[in-house]
Amino acid sequence: MPTAATSIYYALVVAWGASFYQFYLRDVFTTTLGLGRVVQDIGEFPYDCRRIVHPRLEACEDMWLDNEGRVLYAACAGTEARVNWCQAADKFNVSARRPGASELIALDIDEPGVEGMYNLRSIRPMGYTGAQGDGDDSFDLLGFDAEVLDGDTIQFYFVNERPPVGPFNNHIDASVVGINSTIDVFEMRRGEEVMRHLRTILSRAVHDPNRVAALGQGEFVVSNFHSAKTGWRKKLDFVIGGGSVAFCNVNGDCHTAVSGDEPDEILSANIDPQPLYKEYLNKALSVLPKTKLKLPNGLTRGFDNLIYVPSSVDGQIRVYAINSHSLLQQIDTVYTGMPLDNISPDARGDLYVAGFPDIRATVKGMADPTNLDVPSTILRIRKTVDLERKKVDYRVEKVLEDREGKIVSGATTVRHDVRTGRLWMGAAVHPYIMVCDPR
Ligand SMILES: *[C@@H]1O[C@H](CO)[C@@H](O)[C@H](O)[C@H]1NC(C)=O
Ligand SMILES: *[C@@H]1O[C@H](CO)[C@@H](O)[C@H](O)[C@H]1NC(C)=O
Repeated sequence: MPTAATSIYYALVVAWGASFYQFYLRDVFTTTLGLGRVVQDIGEFPYDCRRIVHPRLEACEDMWLDNEGRVLYAACAGTEARVNWCQAADKFNVSARRPGASELIALDIDEPGVEGMYNLRSIRPMGYTGAQGDGDDSFDLLGFDAEVLDGDTIQFYFVNERPPVGPFNNHIDASVVGINSTIDVFEMRRGEEVMRHLRTILSRAVHDPNRVAALGQGEFVVSNFHSAKTGWRKKLDFVIGGGSVAFCNVNGDCHTAVSGDEPDEILSANIDPQPLYKEYLNKALSVLPKTKLKLPNGLTRGFDNLIYVPSSVDGQIRVYAINSHSLLQQIDTVYTGMPLDNISPDARGDLYVAGFPDIRATVKGMADPTNLDVPSTILRIRKTVDLERKKVDYRVEKVLEDREGKIVSGATTVRHDVRTGRLWMGAAVHPYIMVCDPR
């Protein structure tokens, strides 16, 4: 005879099991793996797409578009380097990097030139020293953000995956200690080909940085893709959640602002939203379940000052307000149903995000990027606010998909140019960037 306690225990296990399947496994099959998903052919979309192939446009994980200046900036590492040096993928072969490692490339998007290379040039870092013993200005770029300060000045915030160095300025084994990632801030004047180094931020709260979202006045948030630099807990992030978002102030002091490593934490309700959202926020806070972060990828700040954090596992974009303690408080969730990479606003404030419709093909293709194409999806998320009904709505629309990755392959970032309707895309590991003209 089971005691009352054990019956309750078994009842709970059964209930837990059922809901485990419903909310967890079902999500793994349909969202993460995309079983049964209809992935469309690129020909079904009203765009003419092409790749721009150049050794210096390889493995451009992230891009930023200066809408007024008409310049696209891309952070490019080189494909051979990326498949060997990337903490997020547990690749720690430091010697496979190119001389100088990564480059920030600038392209004049309205001036293709005779060779169709858009006046391709590098923006060289000045007053900056890379990891010791590694050449002076060696850089290891991943995600980044930029801010136009006044008419002429742009500030860049880069994730920089520095090789760790030992006491004798020697490279030490990053597979043991992890990569010594920093956030590096630079400033340049529009039209120049150099950027001046302003500061380096190194913090325990920034352990696996993926992308930065600048907040103005030198503050920023940064997503940590995993819960740790290396080790077994990191491998479980995919399943049980993990990763975090850190907040850093202008002095370079950072703290964890929201984390997926611990059970749903209760954050202070002391939030100070814009008046427009006050009622909406309060309602959202009372009804929304807090869900744990799972591999938070390329986050951004929206035109509404909220922080949008896309997940590479559950396809959710968690929407956060920053409260008066500089913590992130989740106020909404946008469900896209597909693993996501970087999300970026265009000049109108619509959000564009690169998705992985077939994650198994993505994993395979990223290991062999010169031979394998990777299916890609570009989604647009448009927010509407109905003041009268106090309703906020996010509409998710597929703007482009390439089932075979024939042209748009392995895209991890997308910038929509409102003026021409063009989509510019970069790929974290594949050896080209991509551009699509509306037909
Ligand atoms: C590391 O990269 C170098 C250069 O590409 C290569 O020769 C070497 O075999 C790689 N080592 C490992 C352990 O993969
Ligand atoms: C990490 O980078 C910082 C900033 O350059 C440097 O001061 C520190 O010595 C580095 N640590 C390791 C272990 O490489």
